[in-house]
Amino acid sequence: MIQVYPSILSADFGCLAAEAKRLEAAGADAIHVDIMDGHFVPNLTLGPRALAAINRATPLFLDVHIMIYNPYDYIEVLAQSGADRITFHFEATEDVEETLTFIRRCGIQAGLAFRPETSFSMVPKYLDKCDLLLLMTVNPGFGGQKFLPEVLDKVELARKCVTPEFLIQVDGGIDRETARQCVQAGANVLVSGNYLYSRPDLSEGIRSLKHQ
Ligand code: DX5
Ligand code: ZN
Repeated sequence: MIQVYPSILSADFGCLAAEAKRLEAAGADAIHVDIMDGHFVPNLTLGPRALAAINRATPLFLDVHIMIYNPYDYIEVLAQSGADRITFHFEATEDVEETLTFIRRCGIQAGLAFRPETSFSMVPKYLDKCDLLLLMTVNPGFGGQKFLPEVLDKVELARKCVTPEFLIQVDGGIDRETARQCVQAGANVLVSGNYLYSRPDLSEGIRSLKHQ
């Protein structure tokens, strides 16, 4: 079962609540919310208040991808603001295990993200401590970048280490063709921003990713 999470980063920030409702109506499995700090990545996006506004607008699962240093410090406020899962970057903290444990202690799911250039050898150690593995298929920071095909090998290696149900997410440059490649390699959660929002019909776009 392939899940498709539209990235709200590509939506109209002038009406986030309406955009969240639109994603719900279009059949999104969850909403992917990117939070950036201008340090770990050279961009700034949304914060906890915007997340809370999205949460008020929809019952959809909120999949929050944080690209920030010291992720531990922001877990509690993001959980209180409606995050159903928080995925942070392996490269952003020395306290990976503590942060994963703390996210679960807050009553939500924990995800761990890896930049494209980070070696796969870092991944297996954490698989039983997280609910989702995010293998970035672009360098994090901006929507609309080109898919990096070299990450497919990592997806394949990861799938060999986990059960068929375990969530392996890909994020960045996902369109119909790259979605097909990622699913073939073993991904079962597809995040997509630019591709989906450039389609004339969001629900058709979501379906096109689910059934490539
Ligand atoms: C990039 C973000 C992505 C982004 C994906 O750092 O993590 O979630 O919104 O957008 P597209 O699909 O346009 O690459
Ligand atoms: Zn993301």
